[in-house]
Parts: sequence; C-alpha cells; structure tokens
Amino acid sequence: MKTEDVVKDEGQYILQTYGRPEFVLERGNGVYLFDTDGNRYLDFVSGLAVNALGYGDYDVLKAIEEQAGKLMHVSNLYHTIPSVKLAKMLVESSFADRVFFCNSGTESWEATLKFCRKWGNTTHDKPKNRLIAFNDSFHGRTYGSISTTGQPKYHQGFEPLLPGIDFADFNDLTSVEKLVTDETCAILVEPLQAEGGIHAAEPEFLQGLRALCDEREMLLVFDEIQVGCGRLGSLWAHQQYGVEPDIMTLAKALGGGLPIGVALLRQKVADAIAAGDHAATFGANPVACAAAVTVFGKLLEDGFIDSVREKGEYLIGRLEKLQERWPEHITGVRGKGLIAGAVTVRPAAEYLAAFRERDILVATAGADVVRFLPPLIVEKDRIDEVVDVFDEILRQDT
Ligand SMILES: Cc1ncc(COP(=O)(O)O)c(C=O)c1O
Repeated sequence: MKTEDVVKDEGQYILQTYGRPEFVLERGNGVYLFDTDGNRYLDFVSGLAVNALGYGDYDVLKAIEEQAGKLMHVSNLYHTIPSVKLAKMLVESSFADRVFFCNSGTESWEATLKFCRKWGNTTHDKPKNRLIAFNDSFHGRTYGSISTTGQPKYHQGFEPLLPGIDFADFNDLTSVEKLVTDETCAILVEPLQAEGGIHAAEPEFLQGLRALCDEREMLLVFDEIQVGCGRLGSLWAHQQYGVEPDIMTLAKALGGGLPIGVALLRQKVADAIAAGDHAATFGANPVACAAAVTVFGKLLEDGFIDSVREKGEYLIGRLEKLQERWPEHITGVRGKGLIAGAVTVRPAAEYLAAFRERDILVATAGADVVRFLPPLIVEKDRIDEVVDVFDEILRQDT
C-alpha cells in the first residue's frame, strides 16, 4: 500500500483517538525505524518505553517463533511452561511472592486495584477500601486507571469515575498524611511520574510512604509499568530508593513488543485473593511469556543495567549542557536512567516535527516536556547525534 493510501484509510476506518504524523512505519532494525518511503529514523521513543532491546533482537524473535510453533494460546484453564518460567524469574528477582498475568499496563493496574480492595475489605475488622493516588499521575485509560490518574484531562466527559479515591501531592508526605483514614487500604504511586512530566520521587518521600503504610496497615503499590525493567538504570525503579512495595505493576518493556502485564504481590496480599476473583483470557499467553523470559534474561545479564545507568547519566549530562547554552529555550532537565525530559518554553509538541524532519523520533510528556526514551541498547554515539540535532534545532529557534 502507498503511504498516502494508508494515511487516507486510517482517517476513514480507524476511530480517531490519536493524532498521527503522515508517514507509515514499516519495519525496524536495532535503534532504527524505516517508513514506507524508505526513510530511516533514529528512534528515541521505543514504542513508548516498550522496545528496550530495540527492533529485531535475534533471541526474542527466536523465542517467539519457537513458542508460536508449539502453542500460542490455551487459556488459563491449563498449565503452560513459559508463564511458570517467567513467574519464577520475576519472583526470584524481586520483593514479590506471587504474580498475576494479564495483557497490558492498564489491565495490571485494574487487577491491582481489585487486589488492594479485596485485601482491605477482608483482612481487617472493618472494611478498608479507600485509595490514595497522586496529582499528575498516570495509570492507564480504563475506568479504574483513569479514576486513580490525577490529571483531569483524562476524566473529562467520562464521569462518574470510581468512588473512594483521594488525591495527594507527589513528593509531599504531609498531603498524604492528611488524607489517610482507617478506611484507606492502599497508597498508589509511580516512583517516577513519566507521563505527568518526568518527576522522580524524592527518597524521603517513598521512604515516608513505606513507614506510613506500615504504621496504618495499608498497602504500598508502585506502578513501574514505564520505569521498571531497567529503564531507570536499576532493574526496578524502587531499588534506587531502598524501599519495597507490597504490589508492583509491570508491562511495556517486559514483553519485548508483545502485549503483557503483570501484578507482582507479596504473600499477604495473595492470601486475600481466592480462585475466581480475577481472570484474563489471554493472560499468561505462552508466546508473550516466552518473549518476556528472553527479554528479562537479557536485562539480568552482567553489565546490562549498569550500562543503562551510565548512558542515562551521559544523556542527562548532555541535555543539562544544552540547557546552559539555551536557557531561553530550555528551563529544566529531568530524568533518571534512559528516560529524560527537557522542559521547553515553547510547546514541546512543536519540537517533534523539527526532530522528525531530521529523521529522529522523540515524544512529549505533558505540554512542555520533550521526552527522550531510547531503546536501552542505544549507543552513546546515537545519544550524541540526538542532542546535537536538538542543539541545531534550538539554534534555528533563536
Ligand atoms: C506509569 C504507567 N502506568 C500505566 C500505563 C498504562 O499502560 P498501557 O498503555 O499498557 O495500558 C502507562 C502507559 O503509558 C504508564 O506509563
């Protein structure tokens, strides 16, 4: 199909919930994407923090091919091998005792909300089912997820939302303490708010939340859907904080490009969940789990995560130099590991086209942050290339 025909048919047949630029991506290789007109793009979006190993990783492709040839789907009525292998790896590499498998970030978040309320309602003298979430958070687009997302733009027109949710300010422990009651069962937080503008939690904040949860018998839940699996330069984001949650959600990068979602739970939460309480037809899909076993194995290889941390420091250091050079255009640089944001004076979206004209794909995080999310396998030279191009774009801006 020709590019213009794809764009035209997309406009005619697909529900217009996304505004897409007028080119059509056809294939990928390493850190590069290629469109139907033969253009090559350096990809600093990674399918929104999914393609940690870039495109076409040989071992991931082999795992998918082998598993697809054996068995693609049987449902959760039966035992299968890849899900058990993956569950064991995740549990042995984390605080968790159990995992629940589903197919996306928002699904793992919905499962988590149910698990929190079931635990709160059934393991205390009186039911506990209120949840504390944070302003500027993002947890996905289904009802529980938007109801716990602290950004009104995701609520408007979809009310009424789920009841029993209170919003505190991120990095403000006092604002959380004020909301806690005997009915609060869980505090839900991203260790780094990504979609909300790339704001990392302060160590004292997460440590304070842990202490508060222990003191008031509440669950601490970390959404690591975007920032887990190595993205921040540690396997789990929370490892940089010396704090462990009771539940953590994962998705995105884990599946190597196939849909997967996971809720990881401590045994005390698992004890409150009975057979039949939650389910997903495609959850624990053998092909997605086989891909994830391979992706996760690579994240665990010696030196891989260290290299993410090192390259992340390099990227953020270079962006900070750019801010020093162009203070009239960039007012801040935020991030950790290989998620970085430049806070721009002009609307961030305006820079996307400028990068694209120079064959680079970047994203935004909110209205005024240009977000850089390269595959974790990116090389330093490619980071230099992107920052040098940003420099040139900003020079032309003046
Ligand atoms: C922190 C966080 N939570 C949840 C989600 C929702 O994940 P999904 O789009 O896979 O439903 C996202 C997606 O961007 C996210 O960044």
